[in-house]
Amino acid sequence: MTGDEIRESFLRFFEEKGHKIVPGSSLIPHGDPTLLLTSAGMVPFKPYFLGEAVPPSPRLASCQKCFRATDIESVGDTTHLTFFEMLGNFSFGDYFKEEAIGWAWEFVTQRLGLPREQLWITIFLDDDEAFHIWRRVGVPEERILRFGEEDNFWGPAGDSGPCGPCSEIHYDFGQEFGCGRPSCAPGCDCGRFSEIWNLVFMQYNQDRDGNRTPLPKCHIDTGMGLERTAAVMQGKTSVYEIALFSPLLDCISEMAGIKYGFDDAVDSTARIIAEHSRGIAFLIADGVLPGNEGRGYVLRRLLRRAALFGRRLGLDKPFLAEIAKATIKKMGHVYPELIERRSFILKVIELEEARFGETLSTGLELLDDIMAERETDRAGEISGEDAFKLYDTYGFPVELTLEIAQKQGFTVDMGGFEREMEKQRER
Ligand code: GLY
Repeated sequence: MTGDEIRESFLRFFEEKGHKIVPGSSLIPHGDPTLLLTSAGMVPFKPYFLGEAVPPSPRLASCQKCFRATDIESVGDTTHLTFFEMLGNFSFGDYFKEEAIGWAWEFVTQRLGLPREQLWITIFLDDDEAFHIWRRVGVPEERILRFGEEDNFWGPAGDSGPCGPCSEIHYDFGQEFGCGRPSCAPGCDCGRFSEIWNLVFMQYNQDRDGNRTPLPKCHIDTGMGLERTAAVMQGKTSVYEIALFSPLLDCISEMAGIKYGFDDAVDSTARIIAEHSRGIAFLIADGVLPGNEGRGYVLRRLLRRAALFGRRLGLDKPFLAEIAKATIKKMGHVYPELIERRSFILKVIELEEARFGETLSTGLELLDDIMAERETDRAGEISGEDAFKLYDTYGFPVELTLEIAQKQGFTVDMGGFEREMEKQRER
């Protein structure tokens, strides 16, 4: 099944179960100051969970564009993405655990046809109700694992809002893909398991201080990762091997004159560029512009990271607009805003990439000056203050300071840099 087919199949399945299908919302949350970007399928529905607004139907299903800046450093592995599509079914005071679990199991085993013996379930510590429902649908006891708050309690999205215990479906690629440690189980980061669907049993409203009060009604919020599910369905252990990513990786390989699939370091760099380029195009399409704070900073950071990783592949001329074109071509039929705002997206990328090129030149000159001074002064070390000034005032990335310094036999006081960064965060 392709990504398009999975998306369609999911929405049709829940339509058959009485859900109204609603279009996904913008990546910029509407009227929600607690969140920078839409990070889950439930975000547009927060007022319905909290009883502040009435949903168009007590059962909804959607495919939502999501962005999680928190995962930016993990991008390039087999499962993490900043931008991804989340499929979800939602109940507002209507059905609860019994139906949510029963339908999730029916969809994965019957519609997707995933082998039952390769599916594992996780539940919240004391959620015996969920345990018994999973047992009733036919999951063996030994494949239902209990985890605590960190893994099996979801939300709130943002600093406050609806949240609750959750239950996840994990796909097991098989022992041969694992680390082999006796403790290897769903949740292990070795790549053997992929969490494909999270079912949240919304029961509480959490305030800014972390206090939870029960919601007047119980709700369902689920999130199935489209790219992860597509990987499983296409027999791939990495989200980057699915058809949604191949045109992007092809475009990068062609521009950089590399062959994907032969060198781990090169491949991982190409994956990061592909992933970030997709996010960049979608963020701009929804109206985010590069800036020094908030969403604008997330976009700027993503674009600069992509440009820097491009340099590692020898791409030192502007190249990001080309990958955006590949993204628009691949995804425009599902997200028409990409096509409607094509020339705007490309223009913003070109301007920001050119601007970053200038930043890099200024930063390189300053760094040369600093190193020249240090040769006569305190030889061999670039202070944390200097590295931070380059980063904060001139937008020069610290990883580049580190890389250039090391090539010239200098060290960088990273502890000092982090301390300056912390002071800045507090400011
Ligand atoms: N709201 C459920 C999830 O994001 O996993």
